[in-house]
Order: sequence, then structure tokens, then C-alpha cells
Amino acid sequence: MTKRPFIIDCDTGTDDAIAIVAALYCPEIRVKAITSVNGNVPHKYTSWNNLNLVEYLGKDIPVAKGAVKPIIGPFVEEGNASGVHGSTGLGDLELPVAKREFAKRIASELIYEMAVEEKGELELLVIGPMTNIAIALLQHEDLPGLIKHIWFMGGAARGGNVTPTAEFNIWVDPEAAHVVLRSGIPMTMVGLDVTEKAAMIEEDAAELHNVDTPAGRVVTHLLEFMFHRRKTGSEAALMHDALALASAVFPQCLKCEDCFVDVECRGTYSYGHTFVDRRKQTGKAPNVSVALEIDTPMFRKWLVEMVKNSAKEV
Ligand code: RIB
Ligand code: CA
Repeated sequence: MTKRPFIIDCDTGTDDAIAIVAALYCPEIRVKAITSVNGNVPHKYTSWNNLNLVEYLGKDIPVAKGAVKPIIGPFVEEGNASGVHGSTGLGDLELPVAKREFAKRIASELIYEMAVEEKGELELLVIGPMTNIAIALLQHEDLPGLIKHIWFMGGAARGGNVTPTAEFNIWVDPEAAHVVLRSGIPMTMVGLDVTEKAAMIEEDAAELHNVDTPAGRVVTHLLEFMFHRRKTGSEAALMHDALALASAVFPQCLKCEDCFVDVECRGTYSYGHTFVDRRKQTGKAPNVSVALEIDTPMFRKWLVEMVKNSAKEV
């Protein structure tokens, strides 16, 4: 089986880290690079979280730095979502500081270089604010024809988690999301409609306690941090980002609908809102496949299996 080439663009955070582990041990894909963006926590943490994680897992994959703030959005210097992910972004997990170097190329350039290399087969898993992708698109007009598919965690057909109408990844950089959504690249949106139902439970962590690998230890530790977080009234162990990966390699756990989607880049109360035209009222052609239903037990089982693969060294 030919493994599908992916780049993961992320604001590593706790759920990003679990998605990265799942991707690295998913037999269907080969992760060509991991690129960081400011998001859950400032870029100085998201970038080092990626480098430290890849080194701890013993994977020889380029890790590139990316945008340290959004194109225009409400940049927040310290701890955008540190209340959810902890001050460094990985909860109370302390990984050894990596000895390896970051990639020489910055994220937007590495994305373009690898898109050219893969001759149109490259897919992007975008699980943080879309700043790097937008910059790459604004720098290279031929990029849309070189990206096979974008699978992104962001937005919502209903609701929000930063404001009542906006989801975090889109809210941090709505202008970037607008650039990406109008690019014409085929894409799948995995928003809060489904990720707020993608919660791991204690039984899942119990099953992973026996996976004595770096991947098993990282995921178990992060899940325990999330369970504790939940007990203190914060977010549950929601696998926002791993579900975006599942949409690419395990789509049977989701039901999607093609819709026209765009982002509100103005508005006092609606800034960062993803407008999802489910009623086909705009007359505009659908540009996104939007995930609207999830089989949560099926998804949880799949994610546990991905982590267990680390013991088989896929
Ligand atoms: O709204 C959830 C998203 O914001 C996830 O990607 C999480 O990691 C944060 O980036
Ligand atoms: Ca994320």
C-alpha cells in the first residue's frame, strides 16, 4: 500500500500532540514534516513541543517553525488557551529538550517545497490557526494545484468555544482561514459539531496503560491531565485534532455534507464565525465537506488502536 504523504500544521497543545502520535503510527500515511503556528500557547512553546515530541518518539521527521502571530487577528502574547493546555501547551508533561535542530525552511516554504516534491499528492492536516497555510498560498499562486486535500480542525456549523459563534482555531486568524477557504483546494472541515462529542474516557486510558512505548506514555500522561482538567471544571478529554486525522484515514466514523463555507472577518459579535450554508441559501457552490455526525465509540476504538501500533513499530 502506498502511504499518503502528509504535513501536519499545528499549535501543539495537548490534543495536537495526541493527533501527532496517532498520525506517526497510522499505517496509511507518512508524515513528511510537522510545522508549528502560534495558537494554544505562544509559538515559542508550540514549536519546541513539536521538536521535543518528535525526538522523544525517535522519529526522523523535519520540524519547522512558522507564524508567531496571526495575519491580523486578536494576537494574544501569553497563553492564548493556556487555561486548557497549561502554560507550555502540554499540560504537566515535561519532555526532554531536543538536541536536534529545527528545519532550515520556515513552515510556509517547507509546505510549498514538499508540495512540489510530491507532485500534487501532498495532503495537509491543519489543526491550529491557518496562518502558515495562508502565507504559503499568498506566496505561491501555483500551490492550490499542488495540494491534494486539506483536512482541518476548525469552525462549527453551530456554536463556538471562544465566543458563542466562533471556534478557537478560526477565531485566532479568521483572515487566514478566509484565504484558505477560497483557495479551491478540496477540503474537509472537522468542527466543534463533532469534536465536542469526541471525548476519550478513563477506560481508553486504562487500555493504553499497558502500551509501554514513548507514544503510549505520552498519550496516557496527556489523557490523565485532561481527565484531571475536566474534574476542575475545564474541557473534557476532547480529541479535536485527532478527529481531523480520522476524517482523512478513518472516514467511516463521521458523516459529512458538502456545503459552502466562509469566515466572518468583521462583526463585533461574529468575528471568526464560520458561515456554513447547510440550507444552500447563498446559491454558492459547496467548497468544503463538513463533518456533522460522529460515531464516538468507533472513533475512540480507532484512536486507541493507532497508539497501540507504536508497540508494533508500524
Ligand atoms: O477549538 C479546538 C482547537 O483549538 C484544537 O485544535 C485545539 O488544539 C485548539 O488549537
Ligand atoms: Ca490544535
